Amino acid sequence: MAPKTSTDRTTARLVVLISGNGRNLQAILDAVTAGALPAEVVRVISNRGTARGLEKARRAGVPTRVLRPRDYPDRAAYDAALADTIAAESPDIVALAGFMRILDSAFVQRFAGKLVNIHPSLLPRHRGLDTHGRALAAGDERHGASVHYVTEDLDAGPCLIQGSLRVADDETPDSLAERVMTRVEQRIYPQALAWIAEGRATWDDGRIRFDGRPLETPIHVDCDPD
Ligand code: GRF
Repeated sequence: MAPKTSTDRTTARLVVLISGNGRNLQAILDAVTAGALPAEVVRVISNRGTARGLEKARRAGVPTRVLRPRDYPDRAAYDAALADTIAAESPDIVALAGFMRILDSAFVQRFAGKLVNIHPSLLPRHRGLDTHGRALAAGDERHGASVHYVTEDLDAGPCLIQGSLRVADDETPDSLAERVMTRVEQRIYPQALAWIAEGRATWDDGRIRFDGRPLETPIHVDCDPD
């Protein structure tokens, strides 16, 4: 969200949720450091104490918090505690960056319009898991990643940006995953968050506006090598 004149904020407050390596988190932190993303990562939260992304956050001086599902009686209790922890940071943006849990509808509604995710496929193709293997099995000529607002339907909220690359002849799921991460995800997620932080991309009751106009189709970037 754009900095509000009613506060003395100069940058958007960003909370990032992770479960694993945190390579998207690292790209976000690097973009902040480079001045390309006018946001402050105010907290990184993980559902796993072993998530390697936690170390990346600590190295960048970002406060972390681990919330383990086993410490809560059920999903609703966990999601409520997670939501309270996030809300305590007064975030403008909540970014899911490899957070491997489905969030319940109360959570999604509480952060509607602030909650974004990166998914490693060209949505609506290949919702869910194993996207790279499924893109190969389907014979897709292009594959990539999407940044979308999170709604109650899994991986189905409106997309802000997609990046794609050509699938190579000798591609494996691992090589494709690596190329999509480094060439696409680490490029489009900081870009999407910058547009939101700058107020260029906004959420208007279930639709995205970009520079004030309804965004009819996601912005697309070609991430093939030159
Ligand atoms: C990424 O591929 C992301 O798109 C997916 O999970 C993976 C997380 O990787 N949702 P990392 O933790 O950012 O390294």
